[in-house]
Amino acid sequence: MIQRAITLTFEHRIVFTHGAFSGANLTLRDLIAEAAELDGRGRVLVVLEDGLLAGNPNLGESIVCYFDRHRDAIDLVAEPMVLPGGEACKNDWSLVEKLWRAIEFHGICRHSFVIAIGGGAFIDLAGFAAATAHRGIRLVRMPTTTLSQGDGGVGVKNGVNFFGKKNWIGTFCVPFAVVNDLDFLKSLPERACRDGLIEAIKVSLLRDRPFFEYLESKAPGLRRLETEPLERAIRRSAELHVDHIATSGDPFEFGSARPLDFGHWVAHKLEQVSRFAVSHGEAVAIGMAVDLLYSMRIGLLPQRTGERILQLIEAVGFRLWSEFLDRVDESTGRPMILAGLGEFREHLGGQLTITLIPEIGRKIEVHEMDEAGVLAALDDLRQRYGVAAEVGLVPAGGGRK
Ligand SMILES: NC(=O)c1ccc[n+]([C@@H]2O[C@H](COP(=O)([O-])OP(=O)(O)OC[C@H]3O[C@@H](n4cnc5c(N)ncnc54)[C@H](O)[C@@H]3O)[C@@H](O)[C@H]2O)c1
Ligand SMILES: [Zn+2]
Repeated sequence: MIQRAITLTFEHRIVFTHGAFSGANLTLRDLIAEAAELDGRGRVLVVLEDGLLAGNPNLGESIVCYFDRHRDAIDLVAEPMVLPGGEACKNDWSLVEKLWRAIEFHGICRHSFVIAIGGGAFIDLAGFAAATAHRGIRLVRMPTTTLSQGDGGVGVKNGVNFFGKKNWIGTFCVPFAVVNDLDFLKSLPERACRDGLIEAIKVSLLRDRPFFEYLESKAPGLRRLETEPLERAIRRSAELHVDHIATSGDPFEFGSARPLDFGHWVAHKLEQVSRFAVSHGEAVAIGMAVDLLYSMRIGLLPQRTGERILQLIEAVGFRLWSEFLDRVDESTGRPMILAGLGEFREHLGGQLTITLIPEIGRKIEVHEMDEAGVLAALDDLRQRYGVAAEVGLVPAGGGRK
């Protein structure tokens, strides 16, 4: 046997900025110029999702002007390529081929750059195309939603859906850089903007009690999606997600634990059962509530702490109930949501591993969840929602759809 260890070190850079394409902002220019120093001017293909254009009608023009102004160092090979985004883009294999064709046509090589601008779904699509063309082209991700800036977009994987399954094809690949332009959040609809807050609460529970306390102190402003606390929440959320990736010892997820998916076994199933009428953020809020109530029931999490966390989730504007939780599998007569546990195990591979919270800022892993306990937690949630609605903690009628 010949055996050698291959050790690689990656730099994972996340830059926060405002107005990335205003002429005076040197973030992108400097990032690319520095890496391209050996190769001459950095050649760049920009791809952006069409959903951005309604709220940012001059985006394409600003990008062209930006590259023109900095043409001494960076070279835009063509006008930005506009493609559809949203989850549907990950189901359309022809878009992967379109991106590969553009990369080939413009002679984008392993020393060139693809800049992908859009929501998490679009970044996944463009990231996959860039990672597989020539076995990997440098990718600059520019996520444009709160969820992708604070969570998915700062990660190290990409993927598209195949065989009707989410992220069935994809790679682990550390991007060249992530540039979070917080100005993009201004054009997000309120509901999509709120979604990112739940991942911030999630990661505070897993890793950072002072951050949880900060979010608590800013809950009224966060509920109104005020710029200052929102930006701080997204920034810290991104930082904690990246800290986890860099320090957990398993950035490419070889093991079966995935702590960043706290609350996600219910969430994935609820999104699916509701045919995505419940958004990811809304589903994670409910999923975390089920796991918290379960933990309170089994004595893992003190009642007072659990209640405090649930109150923060509600205070920033999430409704902790969905009628889809009561959808029953006709063949078994049991809530469909229960199948989420088995599917979560399959998704991760290996042994079922669920992350729970024994106290704010600390996580543990368990390998089974008692079905009767989960059903009781669902009852607690149902009851709690009724009570919360009566005392006005959440808007009567459920508030946001
Ligand atoms: N790669 C990873 O590590 C990772 C991790 C978590 C999630 N994800 C993936 O991310 C995707 C979800 O991403 P998302 O939550 O950003 O949703 P999304 O990409 O589906 O975007 C939501 C909607 O917002 C629109 N939009 C995006 N930016 C906008 C802006 N600034 N203004 C107005 N509208 C805008 C989009 O067109 C879309 O309709 C899923 O496919 C999920 O699988 C990936
Ligand atoms: Zn999530």
